[in-house]
Amino acid sequence: MKKILVIHGPNLHLLGIRKKDLYGEKTLKELNEMLLDFARENNLKLKIYQSNSEGEIIDIITKNFKWADFIIINPAAYTHYSYAIRDCIEAINIPTIEVHLTDITKRENFRKKSVIKDLCVKQIYGKGINSYIEALKFCINEK
Ligand code: DQA
Repeated sequence: MKKILVIHGPNLHLLGIRKKDLYGEKTLKELNEMLLDFARENNLKLKIYQSNSEGEIIDIITKNFKWADFIIINPAAYTHYSYAIRDCIEAINIPTIEVHLTDITKRENFRKKSVIKDLCVKQIYGKGINSYIEALKFCINEK
């Protein structure tokens, strides 16, 4: 059974409230339930966290990386500038998939850059909550 650590970054607790035209109607709770259902059907084990703080995200990775076969992370705004999260991902050396709900390549200039992209085995964006499902499918299909 593959073990996957899922991390949602800052402001993703506001899904369902925040810019619904961009991020959709579903709440974080509904998104997580969908991921857990998919995991159950596909024999995956998930641990899911959300944090609004950079240090806490680093602590979550640090506490769980030995357990995890894969990490799926949506670092949200930290994607674009957190060298601290980048250093952590580099240090633990677990295959990591970067996900985004929106197409960050087609939004404001500051969102086009991901400081973790080159460390990740895959970057999936622009598919709404299905970006996460695609990431889980990617984990299933990896060795
Ligand atoms: C996001 C894109 C980021 O630019 C933004 O700061 C987010 C969400 C996404 O999932 O599309 O909070 O990561």
